[in-house]
Amino acid sequence: MGQGSPGGMGKQGLPGDRKQDGDKKEKKFEPAAPPARVGRKQRKQKGPDAAARLPVVTPLTKCRLRLLKLERIKDYLLMEEEYVSNQERLKPQEDKNEEDRSKVDDLRGSPMSVGSLEELIDENHAIVSSSMGPEYYVGILSFVDKDQLEPGCAILMHNKVLSVVGLLQDEVDPMVSVMKVEKAPLESYADIGGLDAQIQEIKEAVELPLTHPELYEDIGIKPPKGVILYGEPGTGKTLLAKAVANSTSATFLRVVGSELIQKYLGDGPKLVRELFRVADDLSPSIVFIDEIDAVGTKRYDAHSGGEREIQRTMLELLNQLDGFDSRGDVKVILATNRIESLDPALLRPGRIDRKIEFPLPDIKTRRRIFQIHTSRMTLADDVNLEEFVMTKDEFSGADIKAICTEAGLLALRERRMKVTHPDFKKAKEKVMFKKKEGVPEGLYM
Ligand SMILES: Nc1ncnc2c1ncn2[C@@H]1O[C@H](COP(=O)(O)OP(=O)(O)O)[C@@H](O)[C@H]1O
Ligand SMILES: [Mg+2]
Repeated sequence: MGQGSPGGMGKQGLPGDRKQDGDKKEKKFEPAAPPARVGRKQRKQKGPDAAARLPVVTPLTKCRLRLLKLERIKDYLLMEEEYVSNQERLKPQEDKNEEDRSKVDDLRGSPMSVGSLEELIDENHAIVSSSMGPEYYVGILSFVDKDQLEPGCAILMHNKVLSVVGLLQDEVDPMVSVMKVEKAPLESYADIGGLDAQIQEIKEAVELPLTHPELYEDIGIKPPKGVILYGEPGTGKTLLAKAVANSTSATFLRVVGSELIQKYLGDGPKLVRELFRVADDLSPSIVFIDEIDAVGTKRYDAHSGGEREIQRTMLELLNQLDGFDSRGDVKVILATNRIESLDPALLRPGRIDRKIEFPLPDIKTRRRIFQIHTSRMTLADDVNLEEFVMTKDEFSGADIKAICTEAGLLALRERRMKVTHPDFKKAKEKVMFKKKEGVPEGLYM
């Protein structure tokens, strides 16, 4: 009986028993059957067919399938519900994240650009110019320290709306900080062959005024502002400047003339100004401008804007040399291969009036330079450098260095440990040939 009422659990086993039981019970209980048991009765009536109807029970598996299906739908719906509720829960957070991020971006100002302040209009507005060129009327953000803003100072601007978001405190042009020689070059005075007069002159004109200014005061003269080194290429001008940088305790700033030519109008003169300002800040200091002919050429009628800009750069250089603001502790060394093309204004007395010529080495100097450059080479016994020292060909210091290097390379090519005389001979021929090749003979006849 108890087995009958629950679902499908034991039913498969039941029918047979029930059938027999049911038959007996039916006969016994039928008259007394209470109306409440109609269900049972019916079942029992069906009972006999139960065996035949057993397949009818199969709907149960169908039901089960349906149940499974419904359960799956329920699962799915549950999942959907969870998803939707999660969405509702997380959505505001995402929005908030987004908002936070944009706030942080605003604070950081995302990519910023550097410009310069042209004019302050009122408390919150200014005219700025960016490196791109045009000038803009923009707002100044509230957190910028307005006391420190002044026309001409470098500012940080928002990349899109260009409003002023910050101030560059120490506005040293990064170009200038690169020029400072932090690590002294290895070349020293001992590496220079000959050029004794030149070394003495540059010491007197550049180093002595920095280390012993009182000497000049005692005599009552103003020390020269700087010197210009000129002479054929490869005669050791840059080398001497390096030696000065190596030995001096003053700050050494090194520029190549072409670096002073800038892309944008006004940047070149500005760089020169900046250069001398930094030199002044770090004084005592030495400014070395190599290949000055890049900016210092004679002022012909300039046709293009670029040429005029180069001239303005040179005029600024003159202005800085004249030193309306006195630059007592700043010395200038210029170097060039072509002094004849320089603007005479640059070289007039009172500016760079000390001209130091670097001649091609004479026999004694040649011998010395050969010694310097071969001192670290392993030479075979047959090497006779005198032959090259006494030659009639014109050598510069750089040529001698090239010969030594070339001879070393030739020995290396044949895996020899020593450099022999034939190596030097071949090397000399090669270097002389290359030198002549550079200037095709008879081309301009
Ligand atoms: N008087 C010299 N003594 C020793 N080496 C020299 C001398 N002159 C030139 N040299 C060599 O030639 C190289 C080039 O010289 P550099 O000073 O750069 O020439 P420039 O006068 O054109 O600036 C130097 O690195 C150095 O090795
Ligand atoms: Mg040079």
